[in-house]
Amino acid sequence: MAESLYRPVGIGKLLLPGNLFLAPLAGFTDRAFRGVAAEWGADLTYTEMISCEAVFRDNAKTLPMMERDPREERYAIQLFTGTVEAAEKSLERVLSFQPSLIDLNCGCPVPKIIKSGAGSALMKTPDRIASLVKVLSVGHDTPVTVKIRTGWDAWSLNYREAAEKAVEAGAAAVTIHGRTRSQGYGGKADWQPLRELVEALPVPVFGSGDLFTPDDARRMLEETGCAGIMFARGAIGNPFIFRNTRHLLETGEEAPPQSLTIKMETALSQYISSLSYLSEQRASKEIRKHLCAYTKGIPGSSALRNDLVHGETRSEIEKLIRDFLANSL
Ligand SMILES: Cc1cc2nc3c(=O)[nH]c(=O)nc-3n(C[C@H](O)[C@H](O)[C@H](O)COP(=O)(O)O)c2cc1C
Repeated sequence: MAESLYRPVGIGKLLLPGNLFLAPLAGFTDRAFRGVAAEWGADLTYTEMISCEAVFRDNAKTLPMMERDPREERYAIQLFTGTVEAAEKSLERVLSFQPSLIDLNCGCPVPKIIKSGAGSALMKTPDRIASLVKVLSVGHDTPVTVKIRTGWDAWSLNYREAAEKAVEAGAAAVTIHGRTRSQGYGGKADWQPLRELVEALPVPVFGSGDLFTPDDARRMLEETGCAGIMFARGAIGNPFIFRNTRHLLETGEEAPPQSLTIKMETALSQYISSLSYLSEQRASKEIRKHLCAYTKGIPGSSALRNDLVHGETRSEIEKLIRDFLANSL
């Protein structure tokens, strides 16, 4: 029988039971959403990108972003910085959260981040990627990995050099998002560089880019031979994608879609778990974008979206969700 495309992955000393990950998503992969994704089968979950500068300055907003959800058996903290000094100064604090791995962001296209030499600006300075990996690896055995793009723009596709330098410096795995910095999140992701890195690198290589359905994941695993995949936009409002993808990979059959009741119960449980660490007002604000995603395309959901703006307390949010469900069934 052919080997299943759903399979364990070793990243340095870390052994993951499967190869379906929740990508880092600024503004989305907060603790509550990562917990829900883990519950629905994500084998590894990534925090939003965390500023090394903010960490060593003890920024009160940033530090809690690194806390693990109880449902996350394994999670990655993703860091961003343009300077070796900030990486060095933040490391001890980052390790105190006991992440399963530390990932370095080399792909963020946001101008403010790039100006500081971080994110995809690092694609212009592969030697700095190597220095950052080195300094982040000092004094511990938590695996350090990098997440890169294919290059800065179509005229500088240097993913191979960036990945090789990162691995020489000690990176235990590489993820590549098949777009350049100039592409942002538009156009079509190119999976060819992923295939090339899979062949070239002695460490596991993971793929990102245009994974919106279980079948997209199957195709990426099959066509590129990559060790694992990361769902990003495809998981927003759809943490079920992990279980459904595993089902497809293991049985060859599409999983039946989740009922609206399950969707809304999951959204509600995500909201309730966020109340354990956020104020009611903040949690109610945070859940809005997720609820919009959970209910996207469902008849009547535009009214819910309008009403959500006024939901500021637990009882208001719960009522909105329950009424929406009752009216939709
Ligand atoms: C809203 C948003 C936030 C993101 N935040 C991060 C981030 O913090 N760190 C990171 O490495 N990539 C980030 N990404 C990139 C994703 O992890 C992923 O590589 C990219 O969306 C491509 O996958 P997709 O086409 O399947 O969405 C972000 C993408 C989006 C859309």
